[in-house]
Amino acid sequence: MEDLTPSRIVRLEDDAVVLLDQRRLPEEVVELRCASAAAVADAIRDMAIRGAPAIGIAAAYGYALAVARGEDLDQAFETLAAARPTAVNLRWALEEMRSEPTRERAREIHEDEVERCRRMASHASELVAPGSRVLTHCNAGGLATGGYGTALGAIRSAWEQDLVAHVWVGETRPRLQGARLTAWELEALGIPFAVIADGAAASLMAAGEVDCVLTGADRIAANGDTANKIGTYALALAATYHRLPFIVVAPTSTLDLDAETGADIPIEERDATEVSARFPARNPAFDVTPAALITAIVTEEGVHHAPYATSLPMPTRSARL
Ligand code: MRU
Repeated sequence: MEDLTPSRIVRLEDDAVVLLDQRRLPEEVVELRCASAAAVADAIRDMAIRGAPAIGIAAAYGYALAVARGEDLDQAFETLAAARPTAVNLRWALEEMRSEPTRERAREIHEDEVERCRRMASHASELVAPGSRVLTHCNAGGLATGGYGTALGAIRSAWEQDLVAHVWVGETRPRLQGARLTAWELEALGIPFAVIADGAAASLMAAGEVDCVLTGADRIAANGDTANKIGTYALALAATYHRLPFIVVAPTSTLDLDAETGADIPIEERDATEVSARFPARNPAFDVTPAALITAIVTEEGVHHAPYATSLPMPTRSARL
């Protein structure tokens, strides 16, 4: 089995932030050394590391590196914060580091995120019925979170309790986080799965081959509207039509007090060439699933149901475990 320990996914060394280069998986397992905050920001922007909690952890390590190197900290903060706009964990982790700029705090943020994943996985697995065929999207596993995973952590926990029969993995165009990263993690864990074209999900639901949908999140507004990888909204619509549970699993570091609704969440537009190198294209990287389509949001604090404005554990942005 591949070594997917938290320090293998991303770690802080004396002179660099070192991370598993997710652009090269599953073909090659290679590390990338980032020797400055700007290099960490480049790695986040280019998706060498990606997934909401993981980019927050990488940014925290990048900020700690900037402190050690005597870099301009305001510039390091801004450069890292601007690397990707949608996942709120990035700015959350940087604000934590600004108020306590030590290597120890950066490592604590990493450890806390992994611990949060384990707790939310345990809560979320209670929602998985025995024998479930679970559909997931993008990659919300250890790679996306610095260890263990949110939605994929929940699937892993449920599998270990003999609740999961099979996992459907949406390939997640255009960057194929499902087909490359989630498939790689599930294979390593020995959990039975099959990759499907994103467009196949609704017809599998119609055929009665899906029992529930579990996804992660990049930012959750105060009313429960949830930004996640593009295509998530379509899955929620299809799940609602077919009366299937649609469950979001995310840490409280993904909750955004300042966003009242999904309309307040900035959606990253990536280079159109990721979609088509030949023809005109649009490439919104995330979409917003309205709270009304979400059966439950699971955080490390527990299972939350609508109305989310009162059930979500707010305020939490500065909360420590
Ligand atoms: O563009 P990415 O790969 O960073 O997008 C990641 C996702 O959308 C994940 O589903 C989300 O960050 C939750 S991961 C714990």
